[in-house]
Amino acid sequence: MAFRIAPSILSADFARLGEEVKAVERAGADLIHFDVMDNHSVPTLTVGPVVCAALRPQVKLPLDVHLMVKPVDALVPEFAKAGASIISFHPEATEHVDRTIALIKQHGCKAGLVLNPATPASFLDYTLDKLDLVLVMSVNPGFGGQQFIASVLPKIAEVRRRIDKLGKPIWLEVDGGIKADNIAEVARAGADTFVAGSAIFGEKDRAAALSRLREALKRATISS
Ligand code: DX5
Ligand code: ZN
Repeated sequence: MAFRIAPSILSADFARLGEEVKAVERAGADLIHFDVMDNHSVPTLTVGPVVCAALRPQVKLPLDVHLMVKPVDALVPEFAKAGASIISFHPEATEHVDRTIALIKQHGCKAGLVLNPATPASFLDYTLDKLDLVLVMSVNPGFGGQQFIASVLPKIAEVRRRIDKLGKPIWLEVDGGIKADNIAEVARAGADTFVAGSAIFGEKDRAAALSRLREALKRATISS
């Protein structure tokens, strides 16, 4: 399985965001995870489409936009215009999940649905075949640097079973508390894409931090 690592800008130095994303691109990151928080559906406030558009020309990597905002729909065209490649949203944040997925695709982006730690996999019942990505949260969203919630591992495995049964190349991304000492377990549960904020941008040497995660992933495949 091809594994992807998505450094989350949330733990980056916001005064040097362009250099930060370039550094992780040089170090071999696969995506840039862009956390959007609205001080409403989560208690924190981050950045919006203006910053996304400013980052877009800095790197070639796809921009993986994680919307923690309510409502969602009005921001979809804005992030598409700002150069988002993937737009993921939480089902609790929209009245019409199916419509929001369609809207994201109409704007030429890949669509992702995000499951919070207590949100059941059944939200994929009538949506999975329309999705490009499922994002399983392994922390409650809102802050970087939180502890990985191990009780989501069976849900990751359940989502993996559903994706395999459907037989479509839907990505299974996991976000929150991913470190070199747990990434292998998350991979073995079935994830193929790993968000890491503090594990990369919280370390002085971003490239070394990224290769520690890669090495741990390699060990996961060898020992499985
Ligand atoms: C949490 C965000 C995450 C966060 C991950 O609400 O969605 O993307 O930045 O940070 P770490 O890897 O530090 O848990
Ligand atoms: Zn995120």
